[in-house]
Amino acid sequence: MTSPPPHVAVSNYKGGVGKTSLAQGLTVAAAEAGDRVLVIDMDAQGNLTRRLRAPLSPNPDERFGASLADVLQRPAKGEIERILVPCGYGGIYSERISVAPTHFDLELLARTAGQAASERRLLRALAGVTDDFDLVVIDTPPRLFCHLIDIAWTASDVILMPCEGEYEAVEAARRVKERVLEDRHTLNPDLEIAGMVVSRYRSNLTLHKQRAKEMEKIVGAEGICPTRLPELVAFKNMSEKALPIVECGSEGRHMASLYRDVYKWSRDRINTVMKGAA
Ligand SMILES: Nc1ncnc2c1ncn2[C@@H]1O[C@H](COP(=O)(O)OP(=O)(O)OP(=O)(O)O)[C@@H](O)[C@H]1O
Ligand SMILES: [Mg+2]
Repeated sequence: MTSPPPHVAVSNYKGGVGKTSLAQGLTVAAAEAGDRVLVIDMDAQGNLTRRLRAPLSPNPDERFGASLADVLQRPAKGEIERILVPCGYGGIYSERISVAPTHFDLELLARTAGQAASERRLLRALAGVTDDFDLVVIDTPPRLFCHLIDIAWTASDVILMPCEGEYEAVEAARRVKERVLEDRHTLNPDLEIAGMVVSRYRSNLTLHKQRAKEMEKIVGAEGICPTRLPELVAFKNMSEKALPIVECGSEGRHMASLYRDVYKWSRDRINTVMKGAA
């Protein structure tokens, strides 16, 4: 029997640090490496749904029923399967990437916060479905104490934190770690922070180098991905144009190899952390 795929939440309390970009980049790199990826968009902004070109009906009633907002109301075991749609890039991406899509409607789920076992709903919806995949990627909103975060983390094995070399982003990552340590006994006792990926990095800024050093205090030197994602237009295009980075010009083709390195490091790191926790 094959072991279940790692369930990876991409989180940082700070907004705009590159969570959805990292989720998109890892998903695409995994597919390019031949892996099958299940993507769960737990941010009601629905940015990852759009960036992966996952189809959702423009009709509000149809859209609600075909999205996570409906499934997570009161899911049957494995119910997420009924809303999965292929990534809209075509080719190997559509073959290997399945998306549980999200729209702004997901905000309505806040109404169910506090109901018995409500934070276990994603876990229940995923039961038996993940066996067909090699990786589960869960994008999360820029929040800390929030129902959508509780649901996402309860269903995750590990958290990956993208982080800019800025004081507020590092502080926000530190708060994620504090909350995990304080609250995982109620949410998910096995939850671990796998590591951090430095994003929007400018190697000519001393400040960015210093902040990257400070990140080591949160997850240890071995928890920092040695590949840093530079601040470049190709990453903007990847999100703006909703394309795999390899299709974002010559700069994008080069950056695709960076994401492949980040994916390889992440898999190794996740294996190490999950073995240590077992
Ligand atoms: N390395 C980079 N270089 C240039 N722009 C980047 C880079 N990484 C991300 N961006 C841009 O920064 C913006 C925010 O990125 P992204 O949406 O991934 O952040 P986020 O953490 O998911 O935001 P939110 O907290 O709103 O969910 C996007 O417009 C994206 O294109
Ligand atoms: Mg985001």
